[in-house]
Amino acid sequence: MLRKLIVSGFVMTSFIQGGMATPQDQVQNHQFSTLTIVNHPLVQHKLTLLRHKKTKPILFRQLLEEIGLLVGYEVTRALEVKEKEIETPLTKMTGAKLKNDVVIVPILRAGLGMAGSLQTLIPTASQGHIGISRDPETKKAIEYYFKIPEVKGQTFIVVDPMLATGNSVIAALEGLVKRGVPIENMIFMALVAAPEGVKAVTAKFPTLRIFTAALDEKLNDHAYIVPGLGDAGDRIFGTL
Ligand code: URA
Repeated sequence: MLRKLIVSGFVMTSFIQGGMATPQDQVQNHQFSTLTIVNHPLVQHKLTLLRHKKTKPILFRQLLEEIGLLVGYEVTRALEVKEKEIETPLTKMTGAKLKNDVVIVPILRAGLGMAGSLQTLIPTASQGHIGISRDPETKKAIEYYFKIPEVKGQTFIVVDPMLATGNSVIAALEGLVKRGVPIENMIFMALVAAPEGVKAVTAKFPTLRIFTAALDEKLNDHAYIVPGLGDAGDRIFGTL
């Protein structure tokens, strides 16, 4: 089924798999087949509040955390479960438990603003941290910190609110691949993405599943997302 949607202020045409498993609040993007836009009304409502330039860090953090829960719910929909035999007070039954352990990997520092939501959803998950800074001149990514648990089949959810040029995300994913994490075991969660960033990441990792609350219009000359929300790290931590 073909339908038109207004996302981030411009009209997008999207393919929805009629009758298939895609929930109404998810939009598969026809340009990027591995990209899912979480189009839930609450996500879009909260994102609009978050984008507003007058929104102060205290509310910004709260909204980011709430959106993180809603987007995280969709991200974790893809996690596999395995059978688990248990006994209720009444009878034996076969329940389900997550098949693989999960590692939440915020890209520092803005990723920290959404990592807590994933940790709330999956309290047993461990956390890794990847520090990537952006050279202001070349916009190239520089890895300055990398700490993850021993790799043994976990699902890695890499999180960074702003998918702009894609350089930091690509550097983070390459860092994980280099340390033995297969790309099939990774999911990337963003808040706002630019088409340029999605294009760059999917060119490098064509099968990577990417989730975002919005696909914005473009990058400006300073590699900021437009309309975007400004510098996510500064707005989270009040360092404007
Ligand atoms: N990083 C941000 O925080 N904001 C952007 O718009 C781009 C990169």
